[in-house]
Amino acid sequence: MNMLKMGKPKTQAKNIGIDLGTANLLVYLEGDGIVFNEPSVIAFDYESRNVIAIGNNAAKMIGRGHHGIKIVSPLNQGVISDMDSAKKLIEHALRKEENISINLEASTVLICCPSEVIQLERDSLIGLAQKLGVKDIFIEEEVKAGGIGAGLDIYSSNGSMVIDIGGGSTDIGVLSLGDIVVSESIRIAGNYIDSAIINYMQYEHGLLIGKMTAERIKVEVGSLHEEIIDENTTTASGRDVVTGLPKKILITESEIRDVLIEPLRLLRIRS
Ligand SMILES: Nc1ncnc2c1ncn2[C@@H]1O[C@H](COP(=O)(O)OP(=O)(O)OP(=O)(O)O)[C@@H](O)[C@H]1O
Ligand SMILES: [Mg+2]
Repeated sequence: MNMLKMGKPKTQAKNIGIDLGTANLLVYLEGDGIVFNEPSVIAFDYESRNVIAIGNNAAKMIGRGHHGIKIVSPLNQGVISDMDSAKKLIEHALRKEENISINLEASTVLICCPSEVIQLERDSLIGLAQKLGVKDIFIEEEVKAGGIGAGLDIYSSNGSMVIDIGGGSTDIGVLSLGDIVVSESIRIAGNYIDSAIINYMQYEHGLLIGKMTAERIKVEVGSLHEEIIDENTTTASGRDVVTGLPKKILITESEIRDVLIEPLRLLRIRS
């Protein structure tokens, strides 16, 4: 309404695709492409509950906020754990696209979900869309949407395997003739690996690091190479477990490879 008063373009009905992931939120508008691809994080003012920041700006506040700011990741292991924050995050992500004012009531929205979600989790996604005012809602499995997005011909009679390792869950599916033949969703993914790195640093190096540092180490030197010839290295800064003082150490690719093996072995046993 405010947008109309300010002379912004008229509201439009759109076909919208939403992938509300544990780590990242993606919003696709037909005709405009991906208009939002940022962390699924939202920061509120504690008292007023007003939204202070979303996406990258909110993620930068993690570990740096003060007591007046509440930072929320609305999903936990691929499942919505805070419905109101999830709704606000999507609303603000849509609003960020300044030239478009979307009439959600008249739009069609497709929301992705991990494969094998139970009916309750599907219902919570439908509930979320309804809270946003959407009437025309589709829920589709991420492996199928991911397969189409990656350019696979999912309608072929050949089987195509899609493996989607996200932040909270790993989804593996075999697609054929337009549908999922077999799939498995395991709640072990990027965040689990980050936690494994945090634990390793604490117990092996006596260094306390945060989630952001662990993720950076994973991306910079994480590998599963059996033989490492030119070893990559990076540094990790944190606090010494004993003295509490700042400490910086050198981390090698091979030690992180050994940390990664454990979560990946779990994936193999579970599947
Ligand atoms: N280059 C990289 N190497 C290793 N891990 C990476 C890399 N880039 C991103 N990641 C990890 O991928 C994860 C995010 O992936 P993605 O955006 O697909 O998750 P998501 O869809 O939000 O989560 P989910 O589907 O589980 O709800 C994070 O854990 C991130 O650290
Ligand atoms: Mg995902």
